[in-house]
Amino acid sequence: MLKATTDLSVQFFSFLVMSFLFSHMISMRSDATNTTDSGWGSGEACPENCTCRAMDYPKYRSLFNKTVVCTGVQFLNNIFPENIPLDVEILDLSHCRLTRLSLRLTLKHLRFLDISNNDLKVMDRQIHKLTALRQLIMRNNSLSYLQNGAFSGMLYLEVLDLSNNQLYSIEPHTFGGLNYLKKLNLEGNRLHFLSPQWFVSMPSLGWLFLSNNLIGRLKANVFEMLSGLFTMKLDENRISYIEPGAFNGLSHLRILYLTDNLLQTIPSQELHNLPLLQYLYFDKNPVLRIPTLAFHSMNLSMLTMSYMPHLKVIEKESFLNLKHLVTLQLHDNSELVYIDPNAFVNCSHLKNLYLHNNKLQSVSSVLKDSLPALKTLHLYNNELECDCNAMWMKQENLREISNKTYRSVLFGDSLLKCGSPSNRKGILLRDLPLSALNFTCAPVIIPLFRRSYNLSIGEELHLECYAMGLPSPKITWRLPNGTLLDKENLRTGRYEIRNNSRFILRYLYESDTGRYSCEAQSVSGFDTESSIVTVNNKPVRISAEYVAGNFITISWNGTRNQWSMTGYEIHYKPLDNSEKFQIIPLDRRLRQFRYTFTNLSPLTTYMFCIVYVFETELYTVHCTNITTGDEDLSTTGITHINSKMIVGVVTSIFMLLILGCCVLVVRRVGKRKDYLEPLYSKDTESLIDVIPLESMYQGQTTPAACSSRTSLIQSQD
Ligand SMILES: *[C@@H]1O[C@H](CO)[C@@H](O)[C@H](O)[C@H]1NC(C)=O
Ligand SMILES: *[C@@H]1O[C@H](CO)[C@@H](O)[C@H](O)[C@H]1NC(C)=O
Ligand SMILES: *[C@@H]1O[C@H](CO)[C@@H](O)[C@H](O)[C@H]1NC(C)=O
Ligand SMILES: *[C@@H]1O[C@H](CO)[C@@H](O)[C@H](O)[C@H]1NC(C)=O
Ligand SMILES: *[C@@H]1O[C@H](CO)[C@@H](O)[C@H](O)[C@H]1NC(C)=O
Ligand SMILES: *[C@@H]1O[C@H](CO)[C@@H](O)[C@H](O)[C@H]1NC(C)=O
Ligand SMILES: *[C@@H]1O[C@H](CO)[C@@H](O)[C@H](O)[C@H]1NC(C)=O
Ligand SMILES: *[C@@H]1O[C@H](CO)[C@@H](O)[C@H](O)[C@H]1NC(C)=O
Ligand SMILES: *[C@@H]1O[C@H](CO)[C@@H](O)[C@H](O)[C@H]1NC(C)=O
Ligand SMILES: *[C@@H]1O[C@H](CO)[C@@H](O)[C@H](O)[C@H]1NC(C)=O
Ligand SMILES: *[C@@H]1O[C@H](CO)[C@@H](O)[C@H](O)[C@H]1NC(C)=O
Ligand SMILES: *[C@@H]1O[C@H](CO)[C@@H](O)[C@H](O)[C@H]1NC(C)=O
Repeated sequence: MLKATTDLSVQFFSFLVMSFLFSHMISMRSDATNTTDSGWGSGEACPENCTCRAMDYPKYRSLFNKTVVCTGVQFLNNIFPENIPLDVEILDLSHCRLTRLSLRLTLKHLRFLDISNNDLKVMDRQIHKLTALRQLIMRNNSLSYLQNGAFSGMLYLEVLDLSNNQLYSIEPHTFGGLNYLKKLNLEGNRLHFLSPQWFVSMPSLGWLFLSNNLIGRLKANVFEMLSGLFTMKLDENRISYIEPGAFNGLSHLRILYLTDNLLQTIPSQELHNLPLLQYLYFDKNPVLRIPTLAFHSMNLSMLTMSYMPHLKVIEKESFLNLKHLVTLQLHDNSELVYIDPNAFVNCSHLKNLYLHNNKLQSVSSVLKDSLPALKTLHLYNNELECDCNAMWMKQENLREISNKTYRSVLFGDSLLKCGSPSNRKGILLRDLPLSALNFTCAPVIIPLFRRSYNLSIGEELHLECYAMGLPSPKITWRLPNGTLLDKENLRTGRYEIRNNSRFILRYLYESDTGRYSCEAQSVSGFDTESSIVTVNNKPVRISAEYVAGNFITISWNGTRNQWSMTGYEIHYKPLDNSEKFQIIPLDRRLRQFRYTFTNLSPLTTYMFCIVYVFETELYTVHCTNITTGDEDLSTTGITHINSKMIVGVVTSIFMLLILGCCVLVVRRVGKRKDYLEPLYSKDTESLIDVIPLESMYQGQTTPAACSSRTSLIQSQD
């Protein structure tokens, strides 16, 4: 198995060589195109302006093959030329503005077909006839979909290049029968997802290029059949989630591109599922942190994580036991302020560490000393704290100056600039005298939190902070009431501390309002940074919208949208009554910001509260007192429903219907418009309005006059 992959790698490199040669070929092409040439020997016809010769063709590894080159030639009607010698082996029809293939010829010997840079919109069914084809290059056409069996018949196809088309739909068995395919290029299309069925019959697929599509998520087992895959490119997509098991089966993958996607966390679990992965390109993802054990015990030799605009922190032991790692690129992360001194453990072969163009305030000598093989360390263009923390850099610098045979690991130390303390900002470290630095210094906190937070009850508070200084300081957290939390890891009640440096307080109460401080202490001194946290009640208010004798409609506002009512309840009871509150949960079945309470007593004051609930906690957000009207008013509101009323209502509905029919008839006969109007009194209309169907939990249909009434009656039964 291992040998097989080495073969693949050899092929990969020869492929690189070929593409190199090809790029040279472009400049030679004008020489190769020979307008006067015809056939190979037997005077066969050659399409006008094409070259038909037995020759070596570098685009395809060929030796003296029968080659027809028509690149750039304009054919009649922009379709495939008819007079191509039937025994052609290599055919180049790139840049011919072809709109259709309409392949009528049977080119049994054709091994290489380049129809790139044309304007083909559909795959031609006749392409089946090309049974000997090894390489099909269809780059830069206008294909938008591919159908099942599109390539069936091309039993020996090894390379299929469909890049830079408009493909958005590929049927599950499109690539069925391509059992010898080695390279599949689908770059630069509009694919939104990948289907595992595409890859079912391709045991020899070594290269799969899917860059620059619209893929948003990698599903579990999607590459399961690709056990021979060597290189996979998934860069420039919109991948935001890699499902567990997405990389199952990729037992030979060595090179993986995930650059320029939308991954917010490092998919460690999935990456650890790639036993032979050597090169991982992970730049330009919106990752916030590289957490502990993000990469451990993998076979990586090169890893890039640069140009990540959100990356702030590299935690301790984030690179653990990477014994083959040689090069690590972590530069141009404009927010990266902190790298833990113990970020690297057992990375015994790491030679090149690129940390330039970040915002790092210090890189500990501990970090440098933990990398025995380190040869090159780029640290320029950071915001170094020029105190004891920079001492080792200064020493390296001086040692190199005084000893001609010593080579410092620090590359470009003439560019090491101080960012702090404030009186040294902008000064080059090189220009500071050694005496300006000490071997120990007081802690300096690097807070990763804002000066203040404005949160709502129920939300979470996250504070994170680190500290520099020698000896290394200990971090503790202080609560508003003065209590000190000094455990390295803690989880009690609503509080959590992780690795000393992250403080989390869940389910905020209004009483959690106050100043939260991160404190750093060592024998050399003390530093503290704090944040003022304000916990607000939710800005939701309730008010009476309609009041009758036996029912009240209330409405509320202030929730961000109508779908975010989860967690809210309305509690109500008569005010002068000690009975328990009745509870109405507000969930998404309620489409409107209102609710009608029925079965109330007339002339009674009720207390309505909107309450926010999470876990076992309960917050009263806002209350209001509302008094129901008297009996008279309630008659309009249909208080005492009895059979007479029902009969009355049913009768009136019936009469309404009859009237409706009359109106229709009248309208047909003549034009008597305002006939119906007096029947809808103002009162009835508003009554109908304030009794939404939803409050009866009866589905979401638009309330029509009749159905509102009937549902009201039902609810009273
Ligand atoms: C075309 O090919 C012939 C024979 O190989 C050669 O003599 C001639 O110079 C070529 N013409 C061009 C324009 O390359
Ligand atoms: C054409 O090229 C292929 C691949 O290099 C080779 O195997 C084949 O023998 C060549 N055909 C001729 C007629 O030279
Ligand atoms: C062949 O080339 C000549 C000169 O460039 C051009 O006038 C002619 O239209 C071309 N014929 C075809 C079929 O492309
Ligand atoms: C695609 O093909 C067209 C037509 O030949 C050409 O003008 C264009 O430059 C090509 N685009 C790319 C990216 O190769
Ligand atoms: C890990 O990678 C190295 C090259 O970096 C390679 O020599 C070695 O065989 C790989 N290990 C395994 C288990 O494949
Ligand atoms: C580092 O490697 C050594 C030797 O391989 C091993 O004994 C040790 O446990 C490793 N350290 C960690 C933290 O894994
Ligand atoms: C100079 O550096 C070399 C290489 O690191 C070392 O072997 C040598 O001992 C150093 N010489 C002095 C005088 O420090
Ligand atoms: C170095 O340490 C001494 C005593 O600990 C202190 O007085 C002095 O200010 C420190 N110098 C700097 C540059 O921090
Ligand atoms: C905090 O948020 C509340 C509402 O969410 C707002 O009324 C208040 O003005 C905000 N306070 C500050 C200081 O921004
Ligand atoms: C301070 O607040 C914490 C958390 O609310 C509480 O556990 C602790 O008892 C309080 N301490 C004092 C002295 O009030
Ligand atoms: C909510 O309603 C109350 C009373 O009806 C009003 O005073 C308040 O401005 C409203 N708030 C919002 C955010 O609309
Ligand atoms: C409702 O009435 C009670 C009793 O008079 C009073 O204590 C309470 O504050 C009132 N609530 C509101 C929101 O007005």
